[in-house]
Amino acid sequence: MDAQVIVVPDPAALAAKAAERFAAAAQEAAPSRGRFGVALSGGSTPRALFRVLASEPYQGQIPWAQTHIFWGDERCVPPNDPNSNYYLAHETLLGHISIPPENIHRIRGELEPEAAARAYDRELQDVYCGPRPRFDLVLLGLGRDGHTASLFPGSPALHEAEQLAVAVQAEYEDRPAQRVTLTLPAIKTARQVLFLVAGADKSEIVRAVLEGPGGQLPAQMVSPTAGRFVWLLDAAAASQLTANAQLAAAGLG
Ligand code: 6PG
Repeated sequence: MDAQVIVVPDPAALAAKAAERFAAAAQEAAPSRGRFGVALSGGSTPRALFRVLASEPYQGQIPWAQTHIFWGDERCVPPNDPNSNYYLAHETLLGHISIPPENIHRIRGELEPEAAARAYDRELQDVYCGPRPRFDLVLLGLGRDGHTASLFPGSPALHEAEQLAVAVQAEYEDRPAQRVTLTLPAIKTARQVLFLVAGADKSEIVRAVLEGPGGQLPAQMVSPTAGRFVWLLDAAAASQLTANAQLAAAGLG
């Protein structure tokens, strides 16, 4: 599946463009399928997006009552821990919109990792009435080592073919090592996979993922089987892409 690469000037433009795509996906899914299922990314990049979605016009425009919020991964910490991906989303978005509590399907980081993964897998199957959820939108971030969600290079989780969510352990920066992550089967069925990547510190890994040898990094393994695959980058994160790629991404190629 070829990826569409979109480059915008800065993090604020990235949040604005991501909010546009989020809203468009919601406004297509809700009326046609009765539900908009989205898996949020973690880390720090989506903070600006969540704040835009919590403000007008999106606060009033998105069909939140038909929106089901999931996560691509979670750190195994309580939901009120600042290291929690749920905590970030609650503080910047979920606490500021009118969404039914039962539509928020957080990964229960307060449980033992294996128990949290099993509970999340069950919840995904319950909501999607079967073993293969099809998210309308999966938001993903990119680590400097090429990980995405909590799928890290060399992890056995990359070979999981049945479970929708698994417990993993991975050291990355000063973040909690115990995590739960969606697996490739849960991500690759999405109608749209949207990477959000900002900052010059990601420029090297962006080049490696998009222009290096394929199939080696987790971020190269998540392209949807039959959905849209979009990389939304700010100029700093895209700065090491070849000129042709940058021209194409700017719609000039
Ligand atoms: C996590 C994320 C992880 C994140 C990347 C990028 O739980 O940390 O899910 O995959 O998206 O590490 O993180 P930043 O946005 O903070 O650079």
